[in-house]
This record gives sequence, C-alpha cells and structure tokens, in this order.
Amino acid sequence: MPQRTGVMALPGEWRLEPVCHVNNGASRGRCASPALNFRPIEPLTRQRIPRAGTSVAIKGQPIRWIRAGARAFATRLARRLLAHPREHRLGYRLLAAIVLASTCIALVATGLQLVVDYQREVSTIEDELNQVERSRLASLANSLWSFDDRGLRLQLNGLLQLPDVKFAELKAAGGERYAVGTRPGLDSVTREFALHHEQAGGARLGVLTVSATLDGVYQRLLRKAGLILAMTTGGTFLVALFIFSLVGRWVTRHLEHMARYARSLSLDHMGDALVLARQPGDLPDELDHVATALNDMRRALADELKRRGVVDAERARLFVAYERNRGLLQAIIDNSLAMISVKGLDGRYLMVNRRCAELHGKPVEAFVGKTDYELFSAERAAPLRRFDQRVIAERTALQEEETIPLDDGPHTLLSAKAPLFNDKGELYAVCGIHTDITERKRAEEELQHYRVHLELLVDQRTAELQRANDDLVLTNLRLEQAQMQLVQSEKMASIGVLAAGVAHEINNPIGYVSANLGTLSEYAADLLKLVAAYEEAEAAIGSAAPQQLAAIRRIKQDVALDALRSDIADLGSETGDGLARVRKIVQDLKDFSHVGESRWQFADLHHGIDSTLNIAWNELKYKVDVIKSYATLPEIECLPSELNQVFMNLFINAAHAIKTRGEIRITTGADVDGVWVEVADTGCGIASEHLPRIFEPFFTTKPVGQGTGLGLALSYSIVKKHNGRLDVRSTPGEGTVFRIWLPLTQGAVVAA
Ligand SMILES: Nc1ncnc2c1ncn2[C@@H]1O[C@H](COP(=O)(O)OP(=O)(O)OP(=O)(O)O)[C@@H](O)[C@H]1O
Ligand SMILES: [Mg+2]
Repeated sequence: MPQRTGVMALPGEWRLEPVCHVNNGASRGRCASPALNFRPIEPLTRQRIPRAGTSVAIKGQPIRWIRAGARAFATRLARRLLAHPREHRLGYRLLAAIVLASTCIALVATGLQLVVDYQREVSTIEDELNQVERSRLASLANSLWSFDDRGLRLQLNGLLQLPDVKFAELKAAGGERYAVGTRPGLDSVTREFALHHEQAGGARLGVLTVSATLDGVYQRLLRKAGLILAMTTGGTFLVALFIFSLVGRWVTRHLEHMARYARSLSLDHMGDALVLARQPGDLPDELDHVATALNDMRRALADELKRRGVVDAERARLFVAYERNRGLLQAIIDNSLAMISVKGLDGRYLMVNRRCAELHGKPVEAFVGKTDYELFSAERAAPLRRFDQRVIAERTALQEEETIPLDDGPHTLLSAKAPLFNDKGELYAVCGIHTDITERKRAEEELQHYRVHLELLVDQRTAELQRANDDLVLTNLRLEQAQMQLVQSEKMASIGVLAAGVAHEINNPIGYVSANLGTLSEYAADLLKLVAAYEEAEAAIGSAAPQQLAAIRRIKQDVALDALRSDIADLGSETGDGLARVRKIVQDLKDFSHVGESRWQFADLHHGIDSTLNIAWNELKYKVDVIKSYATLPEIECLPSELNQVFMNLFINAAHAIKTRGEIRITTGADVDGVWVEVADTGCGIASEHLPRIFEPFFTTKPVGQGTGLGLALSYSIVKKHNGRLDVRSTPGEGTVFRIWLPLTQGAVVAA
C-alpha cells in the first residue's frame, strides 16, 4: 500500500489529500481539521487491488459472491465517503477519531515492541561475542604461539562471518597487529579478550578485540516497525471504515431523515408524525427516543401554536386598546401645558412633549437621543444633569424651581422629577414634568410686595395704636395715681382736719384747765397756809371748845391731812406734766396735719419725723426701739404734711415687718444739693420676687382688710412730686432700708 506524507492512499483508484475546507459562514476563513476533510484529486494509479480470485487457487461461486459483495461494499463506502463530505461530518469525524486514536496506540505499541526487540537483539549480539571467548580464543592463542599468521587471518576472517561482527583485531604482546574488517562507529558492541597459552605458562600472548555493529539491528527493527504500523493502520482503517458504514446506515441516515423532517416543519404546517425508515425493534433505542422527542415537540408546538393563536388574538385586542390608550396619552402629553420629558440614565432624552420642544424653540426630534450638554449651553445643562443625578441617586421624586433664559426673558419652571422603574424594579429613566410658573411667580412676588406693604401699614397702625394705648395706659395710671393720691390725701386731710379740730377743741379746755390748775394750785397753797394757821390755833381752841377741837381732829384724821398736804403738790405738778404732754400731742397733731398748709414752704424734716413718730407711737411702742441718728439738716422746700404721710407709711410698714421685737433706725444726712432720710428696720425683709412690685398701686402682702397696697405707691408719687428719689434695698430675714432723697429747693417745678 503506497504511502506518502500527507497523502493517504486508498485501495482502488483514488487517493485522498487533506484540504482546508471553507464550508459555511460559521467557520468561514478557518481551516477545518485536515484529518477530517478529504477530496478526490486524481487517480493515483490505474493499478487495482489484485482480485481475490486471481491469486487464490480456490475457485467457485462463494468466492465470486464474496468478491462481488466486497466490491459493492467498497463502492458504496467510497461513494458515501466521497460524495457528500459536508453532510457526513459526524461519520468523518468518527472515522478520523478512530484512525487517529488507533494510530497513536499503534505508535506507542510499536515503540514498546521496538524497545523490547532492541534489547533482545543487543543481548543476542553479546551472547555471540561471549561465544567467541569460549570457542575461538584457544585456537587463536595456539596460532599466535606458533606464529601461524595465515591461521590467524583465517580465524579472524572467520569471526567476521559471525552475524553483525564487522571488525576483529588481534594485538600480540610482541607488538604485531592483525586486523580484519572495518571498525564500526559508536553504534556498536565491542569486546576485548586476553589471549593466554598454557605452554607459555599461562602468560598473556595478546588481546583480541571484536566489534559488532548495531546497524543490522536497526534495519531489522525498522522493517519490523514498518510492518507493524502498516498492519495496524490498515486494520484500524478497515475497522473504522466498517464502523463509518454502520454509523451511516444505523445513525446518520436516520439523523438526516430527522433533520429533513424537522426542516419540513413550519408554523403553518406541522405535518404528520415522524416515522423512521427501519424495522421497529423490540426495545426503543436512542434514535427512537429522539424521534419520539421530535414528535412530542411537534405536538407541543402544535398545542403551543393553538394557544398562541388565542394569545395572539388577545394580544391583538390588547394592542388595539394599548394603541388607543397610547394615542390618548400622547394627546394628553402633547396638549399638556406642562413640559414633559423622559431621559435615560445616561442623560439622553427618550422623549419630550410638544410644549417642551416649543418652549426651547426646537422640534421634538431634535431632543431624542441627545443630552442636555448637546442641546444647551454647559451653564444651562449642568444644573439639569445634577438634578437628574440626584433623582437617580435618591431613587425618589424631587422638586425644585429653576430659572431658564429664553428669548422673551427668564422663565421660572417648577420641575418635578421622578425615577421610572421597569418590571424588575430596575431604574431605567427619569421623568420630568416642568410647569412654567413665571406668571404665578410674578403674581406671588406682587402679592408678597403688597403683603409687605400691608404689614408695614399694619405695623405703623399698630405702633400708632400701641402708642395711643400706652398714652391711655399712662393717662389711666396717672389718673389712678391722682385719684389714689386724692383719696389718700382726702383721707389724710380728713384725718388732719379731724385731728386739727380735735386739737383745737382740746386746746381751749387745756388752756383754761391749765390756767385753772395754776390758780387751783395757788388756792390750794393758800388753803394749806390757812390750815396750818388753824393748826397753830388748835391749842387755844382745845381749851375753849374741846368738842369742836375733837371734831376738827376727827376730820383731819378722816381726810389724812398730812398725806393730802404732801400729795397736793405732787398732784399739781403731775397734772401740769399731763397737761403739758396733752398740749404737745395736740401740737404734734397740728404739725402732722398742717391744716391749711398745702403750699410749698421751707421746713425742718426732723420736726416732721418726730411729730409723725409721736403720732404713730402707739403702734410702735410695744415692739420697736426707735434709734435716731440725725445729722444737721438745712430746711428744705417741701410740702411738710405730705412728707409726713411718707414717713408715717414707712414707720407703720417697718412696725408691721417686725413680728415680735426689733428696731427702727432713722438716719438723716445732707449732701450738696439735697438731704436724705433712711428708715431701716430689722423686720422680715422683702422677698426678691416682690421687690420690683412694692411701688405698684394695690400691691400688698398683707391680709385683706389690713393693707390696701397704696402706702408706698402714694409715698413714691409724693417723693416724685418733690423731685426726689425713693429707693429700697432689702435682705429677706434681715430687714429693709428705705432711703428718701429730696432736693433742697424745688426751683422751676415749684414756680410752675
Ligand atoms: N419695711 C418693710 N418690710 C417688709 N415689707 C415691707 C416693708 N414696707 C413695705 N413692705 C411690703 O410692701 C407692701 C406694700 O406696702 P404698702 O405700704 O404700699 O402697702 P401696705 O402697707 O400693704 O398697705 P397700706 O400701706 O395701704 O396700709 C407691703 O404689703 C409689704 O409686703
Ligand atoms: Mg403701708
């Protein structure tokens, strides 16, 4: 069987050569496996395989049948192999795989066989060389001992007759050298033998060197390898062809049928069930399974088509409804006064409505597929993109106002943007609805302007009203204070008048009681003088008129004349003292009330303080020690009766603040332009929260009926009337100090 590299010779008249086969679009430009694609090229030779019958002695009908069968099989196989290589790729692939696998196995097996054979051959050569030692050394030693050169050459040539031995050399101890043959190269086996002879006493006569080449071994191994490979490859190829044929008959044919059947199926025509062109077996095989699966698929497809028909009808109905709704929606979007736009996540417009396009003065188509940066200036595009990115990042609807410059001036848009999600909940776009609120904004600004103006007016009016109200409150307060003062003044005036009246009424009797007392005292003295005279005359009376004397003495005894005489003087002086005190009280009452003295006058404050203390003494005497610390004060211009009311109130307040026992210290002093009076007590003090309120009219901490809360308010207004100051400092638990400061004169105020 002829063989060439890359060319496979086939029995018959064809040879096959591997080609690069460009078969279809899928593998275009790529070289398919050369082992799998063959094409006929030319008849290699006209030599046919020797017919079976010609070289076989046996003749007869069976042989002819075999020959005819083999020829038919080969023809059919060749036709199958060569006719449609594209359509039988599976068969070719199988064939190539088998050939490749078997070739590899054959190569490995051959290699192993060669190794074994090589070792065996080498060991055979070594055996032969060992044989030389046993059979030839003795005679060679003889010939060498006897200097038989001819014998030596004959024997050496005899060694060359041994298989594979190509060189023999004998080196005698005397230096002679005998060599036959050619010394082989490195691929050889060489042995050296020492020659000894018994007659020489076993002395060494020389050395025999025998070399056997391995070339013969290699040739034999090569031949054997070629034979093994040829037989293995040929056998394998035949088996592969057989399998190829069987696969074609049992599998490929039906697969092609199934493929044709599958191709014949269409949505319009599902055809009949697939039936394989073969006798059905007892048990279904893989092809039956595939055919059944195809039939099942065909049936399922038919059912699915039926279902799809129903679904398609429904879909068509839905599509009509969808189109109608879409048209409606589009009409709404286009006619909407709001600007509507939808952008993808990359910022490219997916749609805009007509209003939006009109506002920007561009056609709707100009927007689709473009970004804001491609449509507008970077200044305008940047905030739009930022807003989109915020909506994408937060995945929620956001709203903001933006001002955009347009041909007719800046417009304010209220932009609401919302993320759009697909069925899987993935964000895929941002929908923006922009309302032009320029007019509304303008109206709002005007409204705001009016509102501010109105607020201003209201504030003005309120301020005016507040001022009026404050004036009213002030007036009211003044009125109240005036009224209060009037009431208090009236009260005090009434008391003063009353006191003055009482003082006046008392003053007259006191006048004549005082005068009479003097006279009475004189009379009593005269009478006592007389009584003394009578006592001196008692001795004379006793002798003249003892009964009258006894009566006189009884009377003297009854009236306790001696005690009477000593008491009369005391009674007179005590009564005088009493009268003097009454006169003083009456005078104090008159001083305190200053009836008819409501004019400004210079007065001594100490005088007013003392007389007020006298008046209030009854209130103070049981629990208060009054300590006076008076400085020298100039007279000041004042209304004395009103200042006395102030002192009275301070003394009474101090007495009320002292629960059991304490003291009131009255200190006075003067400075450059005025005088001051401090009334300090050791009472309960004033709570810090009450301190700011004590000058308020009607503020009192006293029980109902005990205090009106007007005392300090009136005092404050009286001091104010004198252009003075009334201050207070207090420590709760320790006491309170009221300090009155009054100017020396009233100047312009009084004149006014
Ligand atoms: N020396 C003081 N020590 C403690 N508290 C005082 C003193 N002076 C005044 N107060 C407090 O100030 C309040 C107001 O005093 P004010 O003299 O105005 O009224 P009143 O004494 O309560 O009543 P009225 O004087 O009309 O009889 C008192 O109720 C008291 O609580
Ligand atoms: Mg008071």
